[in-house]
Order: sequence, then structure tokens, then C-alpha cells
Amino acid sequence: MSDLKGQVALITGAGGTLGSSHARAIAARGAHVVIHDIIADAADAVVDDVVRLGGSASPMVCDVTDRQAVKSCVDAVTAEHGAVFILNNNAGITGNNALIKDIDEDFFDRMFDIHVKGAFLVTQEIVDGMKAAGGGRIVNTISGCAHSGAVSGSHYNGAKGAIVGLTRALASEFTPFGITVNAIAPGVTPSGMTRVRLGEEGLAARAKQLVSDRLPTPEEITTGVMFFLAEEAAIVTGRVLNMQQPRKAEVI
Ligand SMILES: NC(=O)c1ccc[n+]([C@@H]2O[C@H](COP(=O)([O-])OP(=O)(O)OC[C@H]3O[C@@H](n4cnc5c(N)ncnc54)[C@H](O)[C@@H]3O)[C@@H](O)[C@H]2O)c1
Repeated sequence: MSDLKGQVALITGAGGTLGSSHARAIAARGAHVVIHDIIADAADAVVDDVVRLGGSASPMVCDVTDRQAVKSCVDAVTAEHGAVFILNNNAGITGNNALIKDIDEDFFDRMFDIHVKGAFLVTQEIVDGMKAAGGGRIVNTISGCAHSGAVSGSHYNGAKGAIVGLTRALASEFTPFGITVNAIAPGVTPSGMTRVRLGEEGLAARAKQLVSDRLPTPEEITTGVMFFLAEEAAIVTGRVLNMQQPRKAEVI
């Protein structure tokens, strides 16, 4: 399929597990994918991978919390490739299962800066180009824990919940411009951050809590992003796709 041919996609934190999976799928549909990350080597490795698979990609390296750096990067991307049509605000860090007494104020601020302000700043920088080009698709990556709660840290859960509000407000604001804004809320998926947070044993234990007895693959989470990018999903906006699986305790 090449239904995204000629489009430009920007995925933040695409040097990581879920973002790189989304990048491969979007590139396979023909878009040029800008692989953003704060770690240059991680972005370069994913660019190489996408190109090896026959896709088109280029790296973009900056901290999503640095307004000036985000602006310079987006300006450079737009000058070289044209307006961004697809934005996935995916960059994130783990809350490390911290209890509220153990979360210091600086880490709380950093959590909100990366997840909430980062999504805000990148969206702010790309949206004028999207409007001028006649439309676009924004998909924010939140987490199932924003709905269900989890001891993955009130700072992490709170930041992901804040992005739900951002998603809904921007969906209303951008509808007149042909831009949809939605969010995916993955459940625990083996990735860079969850391997740090839970370890292989912790991930296996999580799988055992699910009716399916297995965690999703990154590619299965990518399906959620691709749903919002479908041409037929043009009227779907302001929605959160909860991709958490049923837990055994929930089955009556
Ligand atoms: N894996 C899961 O179980 C899961 C579940 C729910 C939500 N999520 C969310 O999915 C997204 C992707 O996470 P992942 O699981 O692929 O983890 P990951 O650690 O593999 O990827 C996260 C990427 O974000 C980048 N990043 C971190 N801080 C950044 C910054 N300030 N600026 C730019 N890039 C930065 C990292 O370098 C990394 O490459 C995150 O927003 C995460 O919160 C993951």
C-alpha cells in the first residue's frame, strides 16, 4: 500500500521501541518519516532500518522540552521535506513505579515537561504548516494507566492524563482546518522503558495477569496509530483508543 505517498510524518521519540515500530509502518505506506529522538545514535539506527526496508526517513535530534531546538528542527524539516502531515507525539520517559513520597519535585516537573509540554511545543511548531497544507493527523501517545490507574507513578499517570485534555481541546480547535487529533493508550508492551521499569521477569508477570496470557507486540500497538491515519478516519477526532487488554481479575 502506498496511500501515504508524498506525505511527511514526524514521530517524536522514534528512536525507541514503539516509535520505531510506527515509523516502519508509516514508511511502508509511502510517507517520508522524520525519526526524532533526543539520542542521535538511536534516531540514526531507526533511519538506517527504515531505509534498509525500502522506506524514506531522516533523523531529527533535539529535546522536546527545548522550544528553540524544536523550532529550529521543525523549520529545517519543513524546508527540506515540506509540511508535516502526520505527527505522533510519542517521546516519553518511565515513572519507575515511584510512590508519591519518593517523587521529587524536579522529576515531577521533568515528567510533565517531556510528556505534556513536549507534545504542546511540537504541535505548536508544526500546526501552521499543517493548516497551510490543508490538513493533517496528530496522534498523541498516552497510556492505559491514565484511565485505569497503576502504581507506575502519579507523575507519569498524571502527565498522560493531561495529554487527554490536550488531545480533546486541540481536536476542537483544529477541526475547521481538516486536522484530526487523537490518542492511543497502550497497555504494558515490552520496550526500552518497560524493560528498565519492570525487567524481563516483571514483564512476564504482567503477561500472566492478562486473559490473553501475553503482552502486545509493538506492531500491534502500531495498529492503533494506523487506524487514526486511515483516510476513512477523517471524522474521528478527540478520541482515545484504549489498547489495554482485559485482565483475568476483570473476567466474571
Ligand atoms: N511500552 C509501554 O508499555 C507503554 C505503555 C503505554 C504508553 N507508552 C508510551 O509510549 C511512548 C513510547 O515509549 P516506548 O515504550 O517505546 O519507550 P522507549 O524508551 O523505547 O522510547 C521512548 C523514546 O523517547 C525518547 N525521549 C525521551 N525523552 C525525550 C526528550 N526529552 N526528547 C526527545 N526524545 C525523548 C527516548 O530517547 C526513547 O527513544 C512513551 O510516551 C510511553 O510513555 C508505552
